[in-house]
Amino acid sequence: MKDILALKSAADYIRSRIKVMPTRAIILGSGLGELADDVKNPVYINYTDIPGFPSSTAPGHKGRLVIGELEGENVLLMQGRFHFYEGYDMSVVVFPIRTMKLLGITNLIVTNAAGGVNRSFTPGDLMLITDHLSMFCTNPLIGSNYSEFGPRFNDMSDSYSKEYRSKIKSSAAEIGIDLKEGIYAYMTGPSYETPAEIVALRTLGADAVGMSTVPEVITAVHAGLKVIGISCITNMAAGILDQPLDGDEVIETGQKVKEKFSKLIIKILKSNIM
Ligand code: HPA
Repeated sequence: MKDILALKSAADYIRSRIKVMPTRAIILGSGLGELADDVKNPVYINYTDIPGFPSSTAPGHKGRLVIGELEGENVLLMQGRFHFYEGYDMSVVVFPIRTMKLLGITNLIVTNAAGGVNRSFTPGDLMLITDHLSMFCTNPLIGSNYSEFGPRFNDMSDSYSKEYRSKIKSSAAEIGIDLKEGIYAYMTGPSYETPAEIVALRTLGADAVGMSTVPEVITAVHAGLKVIGISCITNMAAGILDQPLDGDEVIETGQKVKEKFSKLIIKILKSNIM
């Protein structure tokens, strides 16, 4: 893991750029970054200006923090994230999460684009993550434990807060959003999965699959943040439909659900669920 001093300088730099520090943060996944355009009184901080942050290279990811108000609610948005498949060390992938902790963020909404493994899903569905599977991938906490963040062996039995989830389900229903629920399986990518892997993941209980989120969530939970995860099902996972997978579809579906996604996020912020 990156040295604690590097994290402190990142946090100090961000603090020096903003007046009001939010307690809630949202990581915007592939194709979902446009929510940041609705932020009022925004302060933009490019990742390249923050000590210790690399620049984001994934398509559909801008690479900056946007801090301001969404419908009057103070929030810090990450418009773009770092993926393990980009070649970053896990310590870099989760660097922003630990920076957030030092900044006083207590609640985190993690969003992503994901393939639908559950056959009853349709591209464009939003899925509240109930839990995750990541047995095939490395864990971001491997290495010395930084006890200022959390314990060596951290509990993951309520990683996606059950209390928040039940409130979010009701809030979504109030605004007419049919919010699916399910288990997110993490695969490193960058190749999409094979049809056989998707069958295996479904057998293990997965409802969606993607290449992000889990390292960040593990680190956030370790650091004591309360977490919510929302997947945008951008395509059906490999082998379900008789057609190849295509990265453009991921971005295009993100565009199509933009309104629904933003309505849900604003409802969550406004309901003071977290
Ligand atoms: N697999 C992995 N990651 C993804 C997918 C998928 O089908 N769709 C969007 N991100």
